[in-house]
Amino acid sequence: MIGMKIIKAMMVKRKKTGDKINQILIFGQDDLFERSILMRQLAFTPPMGWNTWNTFYDKISDELVRSTADAMVEQGLLDAGYEYLILDDCWSSVDRDESGHLVPDPEKFPYGIKDLADYVHSKGLKFGIYSCCGTRTCARYPGSFEHEFDDAKQFAEWGVDYLKYDNCHRPRSQTTPMLYRRMSMALRNSGRDIVLAACQWGIDDVHQWIRSSGAQTFRSTVDIQDSWDSIKSTVLSQMDKQNCNAPGCFNDMDMLVVGMYGKGLNPETSQGGCTDEEYQTHFSLWAMMNSPLIIGCDIRSMSPKAKEILTNKEVIAINQDPEGRSCYKLSVCGDDDSFVLVRPLADGDYAVGLFNFSEREWKISVDFWDLGLPAAAGLGFKIRDCYAHEDLGVFTEYFAAPLPPHGSGVYRCKVISTDHVV
Ligand code: GLA
Repeated sequence: MIGMKIIKAMMVKRKKTGDKINQILIFGQDDLFERSILMRQLAFTPPMGWNTWNTFYDKISDELVRSTADAMVEQGLLDAGYEYLILDDCWSSVDRDESGHLVPDPEKFPYGIKDLADYVHSKGLKFGIYSCCGTRTCARYPGSFEHEFDDAKQFAEWGVDYLKYDNCHRPRSQTTPMLYRRMSMALRNSGRDIVLAACQWGIDDVHQWIRSSGAQTFRSTVDIQDSWDSIKSTVLSQMDKQNCNAPGCFNDMDMLVVGMYGKGLNPETSQGGCTDEEYQTHFSLWAMMNSPLIIGCDIRSMSPKAKEILTNKEVIAINQDPEGRSCYKLSVCGDDDSFVLVRPLADGDYAVGLFNFSEREWKISVDFWDLGLPAAAGLGFKIRDCYAHEDLGVFTEYFAAPLPPHGSGVYRCKVISTDHVV
């Protein structure tokens, strides 16, 4: 609690006085505690936003970004917490200019990046861009290898708040830890707060060293596709790595495909689409597992159901819980394709997610003693359904819910005395 009060006070000061560098000077180099809080604020909770890649691939433009910025505000996404608008690969010209600077593609971005970032900021949003630790990006545009400090300065001058930093075309002589440490150092010395979203695909034991590189998020998986199989394999690949996930540096399981329905201009991502039930399960998993929530569908034409899922404030509150605890997994008796995720929350509640990965309806049950709550303690759970937005009552010993194939339920559970329960 004292920690939260300090953090709130720091946030107020930060708003009043401007950027982080000034604040460090104000507080003085000696105050390491305050300084570390300021740094952690960049990803105190998992970043939330929207990215061009899943739906728009290389078909990006100034007009797309501006109209999406408008939609983020009009559709209530900014209010729900989605603050970063991120331009992925293919935004630059194929070569650097004569002085070695990155140049925006003049046809896609005729007014340049600074003007665009200013527009995004004028909407109350933050602006993100993409580069790569290799000589070229994955789509073969210029990468930042050996240009790290110049590029970071350029991004800061343009008003960039978030850098997605990819892992293609890396010279074989270079290790990934060193290259991500290098860009982290460049950003931290750029004069602007810039989130480093390391897009490292989970190779080279990234979970073990990424936190110490200074990055705020790390992509831990191969590229997601708009299909149930992809969602399922992404989640299962990260289940045993949840303890490497905490405030300041979060495990990024890739951008959301909620609401894509197999549409989009990216042939790599658009793989048939999912049902609304599957999209809801996808969102529940990303929320329970602390992943950044970066939307990938065209939000200018979102379906009502996709909007309902993506703006569910009760589920988002679990993802954004200030304590940022990781979840643990409980297996379900008699069914290998179902499981329960549990997460302690900052206010003393527990988030419980029930997941049915099987092909048939299944009543999933969680026994409270498996969470550490013996019935003999005289305690039970008051349970709230975060999708129905309904209090379900007080339960002792166990809770069970029937779930359709690929379905999920997310519940907020408060420990209460059961003495008065009849
Ligand atoms: C990689 C990343 C994707 C996307 C593309 C862009 O594949 O993992 O998320 O950024 O590069 O080329």
